[in-house]
Amino acid sequence: MLNSITPDLFINDPYSIFNTARENNPVLFGNFLNSTGWLITGYKEAEFVLKDPRFIKEGRKLFPPEALATFSERVMPAIALTRNMMLFRDAPDHTRLRNLVNKAFTPKMVERLRPAIEDISSYLLTARKGQSQHELIRDFSYLLPVFVITELLGVPKEDRELFRKWSDAFIKFIDFNTTMDDLESVSDDLKEASNYFRELISKKRITPQEDLLSGLIQAEANGDNLNEDEMIATCLLLLVAGHETTVNLITNAYYLLLTHPEQLKLVQEDRSLISNVVEETLRFEPPVLMTSRWVAEDMELAGQQLKKGQIAFISLAGANRDPLVNADPNSFNILRESIKHLSFASGPHFCLGAPLARLEGIIALEKLVECFANPRLLEKPVWRKNFAFRGFEALHFEAETR
Ligand code: HEM
Repeated sequence: MLNSITPDLFINDPYSIFNTARENNPVLFGNFLNSTGWLITGYKEAEFVLKDPRFIKEGRKLFPPEALATFSERVMPAIALTRNMMLFRDAPDHTRLRNLVNKAFTPKMVERLRPAIEDISSYLLTARKGQSQHELIRDFSYLLPVFVITELLGVPKEDRELFRKWSDAFIKFIDFNTTMDDLESVSDDLKEASNYFRELISKKRITPQEDLLSGLIQAEANGDNLNEDEMIATCLLLLVAGHETTVNLITNAYYLLLTHPEQLKLVQEDRSLISNVVEETLRFEPPVLMTSRWVAEDMELAGQQLKKGQIAFISLAGANRDPLVNADPNSFNILRESIKHLSFASGPHFCLGAPLARLEGIIALEKLVECFANPRLLEKPVWRKNFAFRGFEALHFEAETR
C-alpha cells in the first residue's frame, strides 16, 4: 500500500495513510515517498524505536565511504553545519551537546520569558484592534516564536527579519522529500546564517549578557567541551526547532477551535481548558509529523525482521492516533480524560524546548481567545508542502476585536 502514496495524498490527509498502514502492520516495509524503509505507526512501536539505542541518527556510520551520497562543494558547508547539531548526533556527542544546552536552558530561564511572551502577544494583537479580517500566521503566530527565540538566544531585535529566510532554508534542507537541487538552492542561506552567528558570538565574547548564547560561551570558557562550530550549529538548531514548530502549534490549535465551535465556546467559558487545547492539538495535528532513525543492528520488531542499514520513518502523528492508547483517536476532543502523544518524541532526543513550546502555546491561545469575538474562517486553508512539518500556508479569518 505504501507504494501508491502520492505527495498530494500525503499532504492532504496523512492520517488516512498512517491509519491504513497501522491496520496492516504498525511496522510496515515499503517504498514510501521516494525512500525505501520502515514506516512505524503504532504508539508502542514508535516509542520503542525512539528510546532504543539500536536506532541511531548517524546513519553514515553504518556504510562504507563509497556507499554514501556525495554532495557538491556548495552544499558541503551546510551538511557540516547540520552534522554539528545534537539532533543529528548519537551518544556520546549527543549527550555532551545536549547537557551543555540543558545547563543554559533551565526551567528558570523559560519561566523568565513568561512576561516577555505575554507582552509580545498583547503587542501583536493590539495592532489588530479595529480590523475585521486577519491572517493568523502573518499577523501573530509567525512573529511570536521569532521574538521569543531571538530574546532567548540574545539576538538583537533589528536582526529578527533575517531569520525567516534562514528558518525556511533549514526546513527545506531537512524535509524527507529534499532533492539535490533543493539542497543547492538553500545552502547559501545556511552559510549566511552560520556567518551571522559567528560574528554575534565574537561580539558576545567581549560583552556577554543574560542570554543563552552568552551561557554557551561561558560553558566553553569553563573548559566544557564545545567548539565554535558546534555553538553556531546549536544556535541555528534552536532557532529552527523552536520556530516553525511553534508557529504550527499556535496556528493548528486556533484552526481546530475555529472548526469546532462548540469546543471554542467551552474554552471561552472556562480558560483553564486551554492547556488541554494545546495537548490535544499536539496529539491531533502535530507540528512534526515524522522523524527518522537508522537501524544499527538486525532485530525483530512487531514480527518484522529489520536489517542493519535500513531506515525507519517514525510517524509521530500515526502513533498519536493509535486506538490502543487513545480512544476514538480520529476526533478532536479537548475534554479527553488522558491525552497521550509522542509529538515531542521520546528517549534521548525528547524535545528540549517542550516546556517553552507549551508556555508559548498556552499564552498565545489565551490572548487569541480574549482578543477575538465571533471568529469565522474565511477560506479553507492550504497545507504547506512538507512531509516532516504540518502547518498551513496561511489562515484567513474574520472576527471582531475586543
Ligand atoms: C510545538 C512545538 C515543538 C514541537 C512539536 C517540537 C518537536 C520536537 C521533536 C519531535 C523533536 C525530536 C526529533 C527527533 O527525535 O528526531 C524535537 C527535538 C528538539 N527540539 Fe523541539 N519541538 C517544539 C518546540 C521547540 C522549541 C520551542 C525549542 C527550543 C527553543 C525546541 C528545541 C528542540 C531541540 C534543541 C531538539 C533536539 C533535541 C535532541 O536532539 O536531543 N523545540 N522537537
